[in-house]
Amino acid sequence: MRTPFVVGNWKLHKTINEALALVTDLKNHLASVKGVQVGVAPSFVAIPAVAKRLEDSAIAACAQDCFWEISGAFTGEVSGAMLADAGATWAIVGHSERRQFFGDTNENVGKKAKAAIAAGLGAIVCIGESLAERDGGKTLEIVDAQLAGGLAGIERASIDRLVIAYEPVWAIGTGRTATPAQAQEVHAHIRKRLGERYGADPADTIRIQYGGSVKPSNAEALIAERDIDGALVGGASLEAADFIAIVKAARSG
Ligand code: PGA
Repeated sequence: MRTPFVVGNWKLHKTINEALALVTDLKNHLASVKGVQVGVAPSFVAIPAVAKRLEDSAIAACAQDCFWEISGAFTGEVSGAMLADAGATWAIVGHSERRQFFGDTNENVGKKAKAAIAAGLGAIVCIGESLAERDGGKTLEIVDAQLAGGLAGIERASIDRLVIAYEPVWAIGTGRTATPAQAQEVHAHIRKRLGERYGADPADTIRIQYGGSVKPSNAEALIAERDIDGALVGGASLEAADFIAIVKAARSG
C-alpha cells in the first residue's frame, strides 16, 4: 500500500513572510490528517524559515531544484547538502519549466536526482510530454527517455526516497487536466518501466504523482486511479483552502 504524497510547488511565488503565513495555515489545518504525506516547495530563500516553522509537524519542506555538484565555482546554484542544511528533506528535479527555460536535459536531471539522494534528500523526478509530442503519438517514447535519464544514477537501494511526478506539459498551468484515464495509462506505463529497472515488487512501492492543473474538483478522481499516488500541485497550492482540500481528497483508507 503506497501512502499518497501531495506536494505544493510554489514556483516563483511568496516572500518569506507570505510563505510563513501559508505554511502556518497548512500546519494548523493538516495536523490531524492521516493517510497522506504532505510537502511544500517554497523558493530556496524561504526554505530555512519554512522548515523551522514545520519542525514539529509532518509536513516536509522541499526544494524546487538541486544542483549536481557539492561545491565549487557554480554561481547561482544550490547543492543538495546546502538544501539539507537549510531543512529541506525532498528536492523536485527536472520540472518542465526547468527543462524549458533553464536548459535541464535528461542527463542533467539524472545527475540532479543522484545528487539529491546522495545528500540524504528524497528526489521527485518530473517527466511529461508536450502537446506536440502527445499529438504526434510520442508520449510514451518521451516519458521513457526522461525516465531513463532521470533514474540513471538511482540504485534500487535508494528507491524508498524516489518519487516520480508525471506532469504532461500541456496540463501545467493551463487549467486543462489530463483525464483520470489518460493519466492512469501513462502512470501504469511508468510503473511497468520501473518494474523492468528495479523489479516488479520494489516498483510497486514507488509513488507516482500526477501534476498539471490539479484542483480540489479533480484531485479525488485522479488519485483514485490505481497507479496515481498523490499530486504535484502548482497554482492551487498557493491558497491554503485549495491545497488543504486536495490533501484531504488524497487520503487513503
Ligand atoms: P499547476 O502546476 O498545478 O499550476 O498546473 C503543476 C506543476 O507545475 O507542478
